[in-house]
Amino acid sequence: MKDALGAVQSVLVLGGASEIGVAIAAELAGPRHATVVLAGRHPDALDAAAAQVRSAGAGRVETLPFDAADTDSHEAFAEKAWALAGDFDVVVVAFGLLGDQAEAEAGGDSAVRVAQTNYVGAVSISLVVSRRLRAQGHGTLVVLSSVAGERVRRANFVYGSTKAGLDGFAQGLGDSLAGTGAGVLIVRPGFVTGRMTAGMDTAPMATTPEAVAKATASAIASGKELIWVPGTLRFVFAAFRHLPRPLWRRLPV
Ligand SMILES: NC(=O)c1ccc[n+]([C@@H]2O[C@H](COP(=O)([O-])OP(=O)(O)OC[C@H]3O[C@@H](n4cnc5c(N)ncnc54)[C@H](OP(=O)(O)O)[C@@H]3O)[C@@H](O)[C@H]2O)c1
Repeated sequence: MKDALGAVQSVLVLGGASEIGVAIAAELAGPRHATVVLAGRHPDALDAAAAQVRSAGAGRVETLPFDAADTDSHEAFAEKAWALAGDFDVVVVAFGLLGDQAEAEAGGDSAVRVAQTNYVGAVSISLVVSRRLRAQGHGTLVVLSSVAGERVRRANFVYGSTKAGLDGFAQGLGDSLAGTGAGVLIVRPGFVTGRMTAGMDTAPMATTPEAVAKATASAIASGKELIWVPGTLRFVFAAFRHLPRPLWRRLPV
């Protein structure tokens, strides 16, 4: 539970080696030496992430196996996570796959893997976690959505559609938690320089995992339910969203 000054004392990161997820954990846990649980598929990557969060000042840092796509395991996973920390002030849904659009359109299971991870997996674990936050009577579920879901682009419509679905789901989940003490913060970053976007041309208004983390921490502290990072993307995508399709198709986006 948050301390008397309202500072976060426990954080669970799902997709615990995610660059953005680790930056958020470091930002939240560092100053108050909070407890962090990093959950993901690869122990080596989790150990490296744990070292990073510890060096930022976190108190206790634990790792747990977690596979977003293995939805049958989610209840048992949550049981273990809560047994480790008692409760969580913040849970970050940070896992995600960008996938390869050309590969997805060519066939095979690439598109289905992206959808099962980014949408089905996120829906499953978010519902499991939100029941626990509701029972606690406090806690914020941070959902890493994306501007990609606000107006889905031809160039990455598989990924974009998973984020559109996830974003709508998170809005409804936030509404369902209103008045319970628990809540949802939707984070819509633009292009974030890092592992997921390595090798891609940097998009205008690109940001960093650290900037996303600072904006997220500040939004949690002020009780916001939706942020764009950077904030100006809100206006850019409001315009994109309402562009007629013939015009939208001609844009080099
Ligand atoms: N980077 C951007 O430009 C950007 C922009 C907007 C939104 N986002 C979103 O922000 C979130 C974090 O992205 P990031 O930049 O931090 O990317 P990242 O460093 O590539 O992190 C994504 C993480 O998801 C994990 N993951 C993938 N499939 C998983 C599964 N089935 N179970 C558990 N973990 C799984 C990956 O771990 P392993 O594959 O090692 O298991 C990886 O640690 C994602 O949801 C992403 O879509 C990113």
